[in-house]
Amino acid sequence: MRLENKVALVTGSARGIGFAIIRRMTAEGAIPVIADINADGARAALARLGRTDGPVGGLAGGLALGVDVADKASVDAMIAAIIARFGRLDILVNNAGIGGNTPFLEITPEEWNRTIGINLTGAFFVAQAAARAMVKGGGGKIVNITSLSGQRGGHGRAAYGAAKAGLELLTKVMAVELADSAINVNSIAPGAIETEMAKFAHDQATRAAYNYLIPMTRYGTPEEIADAAVFLCSDESRYVHGHTLNVDGGFREAGLMFRGGKVAPGGGAAG
Ligand SMILES: NC(=O)c1ccc[n+]([C@@H]2O[C@H](COP(=O)([O-])OP(=O)(O)OC[C@H]3O[C@@H](n4cnc5c(N)ncnc54)[C@H](O)[C@@H]3O)[C@@H](O)[C@H]2O)c1
Repeated sequence: MRLENKVALVTGSARGIGFAIIRRMTAEGAIPVIADINADGARAALARLGRTDGPVGGLAGGLALGVDVADKASVDAMIAAIIARFGRLDILVNNAGIGGNTPFLEITPEEWNRTIGINLTGAFFVAQAAARAMVKGGGGKIVNITSLSGQRGGHGRAAYGAAKAGLELLTKVMAVELADSAINVNSIAPGAIETEMAKFAHDQATRAAYNYLIPMTRYGTPEEIADAAVFLCSDESRYVHGHTLNVDGGFREAGLMFRGGKVAPGGGAAG
């Protein structure tokens, strides 16, 4: 029960990585707030946790909210609803996001703006509104979910990667500016994780490339991201600050890898 009675908001938690995080946090004693653009999905997810959207107090409590993180008014209403219900916010996991795989030469201004609007500006709106509430409450924990695509130049990751790189830098600035307010800020950069987003964004060639380039030769699971999120939102990580924790099966750090004579995706010899 490392997060006992902590009010924990995870955006985009109706499914995927966000749901795995809020499920683990609830198991650690947190009071779950599930917020998603899919409001019905958020309510269903809260029910799957065995929680009711009821009044504060006791372990039966929880909250399910519809929110569009790219809309500042919607974000402000979400934070106001949490404070009205629980009186405080202890944990934010800034997870809501959309994928994308459009080549650089083909990306339109609309797709660029939509991706940046949700994955970077939206994350900023949520972080700022949550941090303002945490300042009033005497502190908190914030984890931004970035991506390996924000650290390495992958095919089709122009808008997505730029947004995630921006969010990783924002994490560092937040860590510097919010330290005096006892708000601990870090980010998690997932590698390839098996979720609905990955099913949409990763075709067969992408999957083969990842499985070749990841030393552990497999995709990660949402639960493996959730374990890292619990650590970064618990007291155990109190001196970890402004850090990006890669959870990627070694993808970022890998150099030359011998693959038993297998041919690498794209035709190169493997070893
Ligand atoms: N799956 C991966 O391989 C992977 C890798 C690196 C990073 N990530 C990041 O992890 C996070 C979660 O990804 P996932 O794979 O679970 O995706 P997912 O598509 O399965 O889930 C994303 C959730 O966010 C919600 N959402 C989308 N737009 C929203 C908005 N404007 N406002 C509020 N909610 C919104 C969706 O409804 C959905 O429930 C994202 O930030 C993603 O960029 C995922």
